[in-house]
Amino acid sequence: MANRIVEKIRKGLRGELVIPGDKSVSHRSVMLSALGNTPVHITNFLPSADCLATVEVMRALGAEVEIISATELIVKGNGLHGLREPATLLDAGNSGTTLRLLMGLLSPQSFVSTFTGDSSLHQRPMGRVIKPLSQMGAKIVGRAGNSKLPITIVPPEGRLQGIAYKMPVASAQVKSAVLLAGLFAEGTTSVEEPYPSRNHTELMLEAFGVRLGHEGNTVSIQAQDELAAPEEIIVPGDISSAAFWLTAASVIPDSELLLKNVGINPTRTGILDVLAAMGADITLLNRRSSGSEPAADILVRSARLHGTSFGADIMPRLVDEIPAITVAAMFAEGQTVITGAGELRVKETDRIQALSDQFNKLCPCIAAAEDGLIINGSSKNIWQKGTCFSYDDHRIAMTIAIAGMAGNGAEIERPDCIDVSYPGFYDELASLY
Ligand code: S3P
Repeated sequence: MANRIVEKIRKGLRGELVIPGDKSVSHRSVMLSALGNTPVHITNFLPSADCLATVEVMRALGAEVEIISATELIVKGNGLHGLREPATLLDAGNSGTTLRLLMGLLSPQSFVSTFTGDSSLHQRPMGRVIKPLSQMGAKIVGRAGNSKLPITIVPPEGRLQGIAYKMPVASAQVKSAVLLAGLFAEGTTSVEEPYPSRNHTELMLEAFGVRLGHEGNTVSIQAQDELAAPEEIIVPGDISSAAFWLTAASVIPDSELLLKNVGINPTRTGILDVLAAMGADITLLNRRSSGSEPAADILVRSARLHGTSFGADIMPRLVDEIPAITVAAMFAEGQTVITGAGELRVKETDRIQALSDQFNKLCPCIAAAEDGLIINGSSKNIWQKGTCFSYDDHRIAMTIAIAGMAGNGAEIERPDCIDVSYPGFYDELASLY
């Protein structure tokens, strides 16, 4: 895999970019459609490596997935109780969402399934999902004291039992896994989070006719006989992909960029709040619904940013955007203090370490803390060209690219991992020069 060189850009970012489909919603669209009895037409699907891993796993479990075009699928399942024993290992690739959500879905089944994944996924903690599922009666065996891949799920003795689970850390993946298991469990299954995480599973379950209970940060579900699949799911654009352009256009002088079709579910828009607090010039236009999710076009113009502080309460609403926000903070005047971000250490790579080790090569202004970062931004900071390692983490690679573009150039070591969430990223980047 050759390194990729990103040159400093010498003009503002101008024009329009259409933001590709949301990764989280794309995964869930295929998973839930595969549990229906009638075909579901999915549009603006994200054809990234992670989402295609979900497609392959659902096929191995008996769902029919017809690929009409890269972004358009028709998925037909065999009903809520119609999943079949897979004949092969289930390979989640790099995708924590595929693995964690499907562990929830497969725990109640009457067949054996075994998951594998890439080397990054083998290092990520799965005990956080295994713990509540085991409390429900699931039989799950994993490496490293039942916490890591490979993981085998065997049929439970009898039915899973509903639980009231209080999550120690806000996580949409854990919440979703428990809710999906709850679709089959006896009694009520409820999950309480310390802070609200993305609610795409809940919105989509409701679009499939499931009535959920909501009380504060607790959501509950009852077992269902069948799901009522909608005819169509329209996936909104991914604000986590828009994040790179939100930062780049904010910090590169003379920019005015229109990001078209971005999902603005309030559980995902923490980056808009933080950039606004930093003085960014961002306007939401043409607000509308995209299926069961809100969407808008976002106009971003360059602005003089200043430092800010934020912590655990907003973290679930921007957890994937910390790399992009870090670059914004490097260009902002004054200090930015990020706390409550310990979850970043268990993402596709340890992103706290990655951000301080790699981005300090471009502009030495970042200090890592156990659960966050301190960034000393200044317009007087000197940016140099550097070679930065992606750790095969898609969001680190894309963040190096925008830092190089806005700073003084960068060379990305192992750049191809962007396919995990944004296959067209480098083409869009090139189109702006
Ligand atoms: C996701 C939830 C988040 C996020 C990940 C996608 C999802 O993970 O970081 O990229 O689709 O549910 P956690 O649940 O671990 O916070």
